[in-house]
Amino acid sequence: VGQGLVRILRDRKPFPFALVAVSDPAKGSLADPEGLDPDALLRTVSDSGRIDSLAAPFRGWEATQTIAESGANVVVEMSPTDLTTGEPATGHLRHAIEMGLDVVTTNKGPLALHYRELTDLAQSRDVLVGMEGTVLSGTPVLAFGRELLKAAGIRSISGILNGTTNYILSRMEAGAEYAEALSEAQRKGYAEADPRGDVEGSDAAAKVAILANHLLGADLRLGDVEREGIAGIARAEIENARAAGKRIKLVGRLETENEGLRASVRPAHVPLDHPLASVGGVSNALTFETEILGEVTVSGPGAGRMETGYAVVSDLLSILRERGGRRR
Ligand SMILES: NC(=O)c1ccc[n+]([C@@H]2O[C@H](COP(=O)([O-])OP(=O)(O)OC[C@H]3O[C@@H](n4cnc5c(N)ncnc54)[C@H](OP(=O)(O)O)[C@@H]3O)[C@@H](O)[C@H]2O)c1
Repeated sequence: VGQGLVRILRDRKPFPFALVAVSDPAKGSLADPEGLDPDALLRTVSDSGRIDSLAAPFRGWEATQTIAESGANVVVEMSPTDLTTGEPATGHLRHAIEMGLDVVTTNKGPLALHYRELTDLAQSRDVLVGMEGTVLSGTPVLAFGRELLKAAGIRSISGILNGTTNYILSRMEAGAEYAEALSEAQRKGYAEADPRGDVEGSDAAAKVAILANHLLGADLRLGDVEREGIAGIARAEIENARAAGKRIKLVGRLETENEGLRASVRPAHVPLDHPLASVGGVSNALTFETEILGEVTVSGPGAGRMETGYAVVSDLLSILRERGGRRR
């Protein structure tokens, strides 16, 4: 995702910037207050898998030192997701926010586990937090829901939030058995070697928690989301649903009821004429049910380096807009 981001910055130059540091434990770390050359970084990492053959005044800083000493005014956190501890990303974000630096992250862990703590801390330090890439990668559902549907009265949100499980279900509908569809998803690089986070629904549940917190003002953690995965679904069930004019989808759902909020991820029988039914393969989609507009559906990619890198760019553009184009 970091490379996708740098490629977009290099090729599209969406705003003036200086990339003052990159920190990665395996690929190396460089810092230069004058700005590193995005093209040289991309070429070097593609040729050698590392960046530290490039010249730079500061080298070898791990993440904490990079946050403290690089002089950046925005920190972009893209380390691997850990949905149990939220680390190391939560520590990185907390550190940057405490220093008064605006942050952008694509990492679900910190926000599915510590949303309120991090956003309260950010508010107390007048820090902006961008998180568009955590749900549907670059498909802009968070900004859309939070800004454009703010006054429409969101009653419920339902979505296909995990591309791997949607791919498996689509392949099963086309005749594959579950195990066959899963290993095909692994061969194509959609599913991890350990696919439990996807097929047991925790990846989707993390996104449901983020949607609840960011769009509906809730204080949910991943563990508050009721969850059932797709491993128990037999092909016969998919065929029976089809005969009844439905399609089985793994649906993440948020429903406002009375004063409360119900949050779940589970296989659902979606009528064929509903927009979510036509979302096939690794695509993702989200349907907002609103008081004024009725249903509004956004669909698009839910993963990918460039797609998620684009989410970071859109967050950086929002930060620039919010800060009036000025450095803090
Ligand atoms: N790829 C997608 O489609 C997508 C979509 C939405 C959200 N995301 C999220 O975006 C993040 C990045 O995804 P990715 O696909 O780029 O993952 P990735 O290929 O695993 O990249 C993560 C990078 O972070 C580095 N890293 C690990 N620990 C670190 C630390 N302590 N400090 C600094 N860097 C550290 C890793 O270095 P090593 O090589 O040493 O491990 C690796 O280069 C993840 O949280 C992911 O869940 C990804």
